[in-house]
Amino acid sequence: MSQHPLAQYLAQVPDFPKPGILFSDISPLLKTHFNETIDAISDLFSAEEWANIDCIAGIESRGFIFASALAYKHNKGFIKVRKPGKLPNVHASVEYDLEYGTDKLEMQKGDGSNLILLDDLIATGGSMGAAAELCEKVGYKVVGLACLIDLKALNSFVYKEMSVRSVMQFDD
Ligand code: PRP
Ligand code: MG
Repeated sequence: MSQHPLAQYLAQVPDFPKPGILFSDISPLLKTHFNETIDAISDLFSAEEWANIDCIAGIESRGFIFASALAYKHNKGFIKVRKPGKLPNVHASVEYDLEYGTDKLEMQKGDGSNLILLDDLIATGGSMGAAAELCEKVGYKVVGLACLIDLKALNSFVYKEMSVRSVMQFDD
């Protein structure tokens, strides 16, 4: 499949964080093409869609980079989906399965507003799915899901008939 021009600035790191894993490192992309990257994610949603979005949630930690920049660009609120034990006044949490063991995400109470959820990358979809469920559980309406890199483009993750929009697609 043809690739987005920004994909050339990713560093593909073999055997990280463990043998057999080819890790897509966003560090060089962020360093040299941050504006273009934020604009490319922004373009995943139309002007009409942006007008209907109240706030942007980012999944800790790499999701924060993109969600906060987009919140600034579009003058929207920024919402944190945090790893456990970091956030006061937690309203709800969700546990989700990893390859080995489980992980957990936590959020404060929502207010019924329309939210899009952002992360850097989708692999199994476990993080995005758990975070979307949690956003609804605390009282937001999830109106969009997006990431920079989708590693499962041919078999992409879908949440309640909502597909995840992405700037770059790979098939591992
Ligand atoms: C990574 C990545 C995504 C998630 C994708 O986060 O940033 O959030 O894994 O994997 P999944 O689709 O299988 O859930 P991780 O928590 O490893 O690291 P981070 O704190 O650097 O974001
Ligand atoms: Mg992450």
